[in-house]
Amino acid sequence: MTTTTILLSPDDPASIGRAADLLDAGALVALPTETVYGLAADAARGEAVAAVFEAKGRPRFNPLIVHVSDLAMARRDVHLDAATERLAARFWPGPLTLVLPKAAGSAVHPLASGGLDTLALRMPRGAMADVIARLGRPVVAPSANPSGRISPTAASDVMRGLSGRIAAVLDGGRAPHGLESTVVKPLPDRLVLLRPGPIDREALADAAGLPVVDPEAGSGIESPGQLLSHYAPQGRVRLDARRVEPGEALIGFGPEGAANRAEALDFVNLSPSGDLVEAAANLFAALHRFDRPDIEAIAVEPIPATGLGEAIADRLRRAAAPRG
Ligand code: TXA
Ligand code: MG
Repeated sequence: MTTTTILLSPDDPASIGRAADLLDAGALVALPTETVYGLAADAARGEAVAAVFEAKGRPRFNPLIVHVSDLAMARRDVHLDAATERLAARFWPGPLTLVLPKAAGSAVHPLASGGLDTLALRMPRGAMADVIARLGRPVVAPSANPSGRISPTAASDVMRGLSGRIAAVLDGGRAPHGLESTVVKPLPDRLVLLRPGPIDREALADAAGLPVVDPEAGSGIESPGQLLSHYAPQGRVRLDARRVEPGEALIGFGPEGAANRAEALDFVNLSPSGDLVEAAANLFAALHRFDRPDIEAIAVEPIPATGLGEAIADRLRRAAAPRG
């Protein structure tokens, strides 16, 4: 899918509003922060979040960082304990991301957090903050580069990588840090440093009054790429199913699939029209819905391996992998 990418100038006072309007309509907009340029999408809209993965050509649904413009907005999505409040007071807005328990009423779409019950959240500086404030709700924003390429620190970098794939880029000059935010998971007695970044260990320990440790091997969160392996539904997952077997729920794709769809214990069609963006947006909700003791196995109809189909297949393979 190609589109003409608009370059919004910071000298135009209307550009913040235009960026917010585009996001409100479900489009993707690259926005400057103090770390790197982020590819923003409305965090509450599954199809917009799926489109981020598609535009970046990401072969995996890694959980994304949710960006807010004030603490009230953060509190709608996550729980902040006392140490977390101290970190937020010291470093927000700034290059610190906190991985926190997701609040029950959060409107953030499950695809944004890779189906996890935690959210990575930060309050950035830069034009992105103004756009979020105007939009009135959070955005997801991974770095605005094609997957596997270096993170963009100028609007021209974003244009080179993503022009034609996103609605707009807001030019905010050079990103001051040029390095992604520090990612920390606060636990009751320590801080787990998941991604080193502009805020270092000493500063974190000092602000929180807690020791900073590295992720433990085998904890499932030691490396971002392995994050998803620890959420899988209770039942087995069977891929490429052309028929449903007794005791199985069925995840469908497209107008035609398993011949005996009606015999499934429960049935969700990720996209009746066969659209991969829509399917990606519905994937985690389907896995959650079928995560029940009465479902022995989840059969999944064949899904094409092109475009977002690769990330969908990756996620399903992890869900299907034998558990230890
Ligand atoms: O500086 C930044 O943080 C940039 C700018 C644009 O804000 N954004 C960024 O976003 O780097 P993203 O989505 O690419 O970063 C995701 C990082 C990954 O390391 C991921 O594993 C971690 O955050 N992460 C996200 N959700 C998580 C969760 N629930 N638990 C643990 N780690 C999580
Ligand atoms: Mg990146």
